[in-house]
Amino acid sequence: MTGEGIGFGKAIVFNEHFVVYGVPAIVSAIGKYTIAKVKTIDEPGWRLNDNRKATPNYKEEKIEQQKDSINRILKKMDIDLSKNGIEITLDGTLYCASGIGASAASCVAIARALSNHYNMDLSDEEINSIAYEGEKAYHGNPSGIDNTASTFGGLIWFEKSENNIMDRISLQNPVEIVMGNTGKVADTAAAVAGVRERRERNPEKYKEIFARAENIAYLAKDAFQNEDYQELGKLMNENHKLLQQIEVSSKELDFLVKLARDAGALGAKLTGGGLGGNIIALTPGKDLQERVANAIEKEGFQTLKTVIGATRGMR
Ligand code: MEV
Repeated sequence: MTGEGIGFGKAIVFNEHFVVYGVPAIVSAIGKYTIAKVKTIDEPGWRLNDNRKATPNYKEEKIEQQKDSINRILKKMDIDLSKNGIEITLDGTLYCASGIGASAASCVAIARALSNHYNMDLSDEEINSIAYEGEKAYHGNPSGIDNTASTFGGLIWFEKSENNIMDRISLQNPVEIVMGNTGKVADTAAAVAGVRERRERNPEKYKEIFARAENIAYLAKDAFQNEDYQELGKLMNENHKLLQQIEVSSKELDFLVKLARDAGALGAKLTGGGLGGNIIALTPGKDLQERVANAIEKEGFQTLKTVIGATRGMR
């Protein structure tokens, strides 16, 4: 018997990093996903076939974190592989890169495949908390936003607290975005640690930035609810500025953000941990989406055209 599970890729639309400290953030699942399959093998332990397509060096750089992550998931699920082991195969349409939820999607897909394989019949909430455990290997102290989007899909308002707050934001119609990949693999745990260190050194400066980030989240929620994409784009631009101020942007990210805006995107910002990885550009309508993606591709960068705000992630 083979167990199978899915996890969605994601794009953080507002407030990555700030979310780690309890500032509200907005995230969406995207129309790309990772599939995990699990089957029993004769030898003890686990082995992995990672067939996901990936940015050069992504898999190599993440290999130790990936091993740690799988071990954490197995431990959390109380799975004993001392007699019969398992083979895990990863596949799907999500191209691995930093900032796109590749680690969360794999944790969710693996947790679901294991639950399916061992007939555990776990709920989405249980899958989410197992994936959170797996994410610790990649993020250090994750907020939980990525695994939440990967598990539940859709557009989500997320606040980290003792009992995380997760509210769905419903749109009449999903809206087009372009993601642009710098091609640089980044270490989320290191990016998060850097922010922590600088925040401790400059509490006053960071307090102000964090207060504005919180403000932006509420304004963005209203803009989403009014489907006011001009306003949403402006808020994304401002959010990018705040991310620059906490020093998680990079030359390449700023370059792609500018390219996207110059090509007509209503707003653009880095997405995810930063220091490399991806940007997200808001491009309502297929024509604008195409134009912005072409401008980025012309400069030799890879893009992903998808939507945010679909009620679930999509297959
Ligand atoms: C990474 O996708 C998002 C961060 O905010 C880290 C986290 O929330 O765990 C940078």
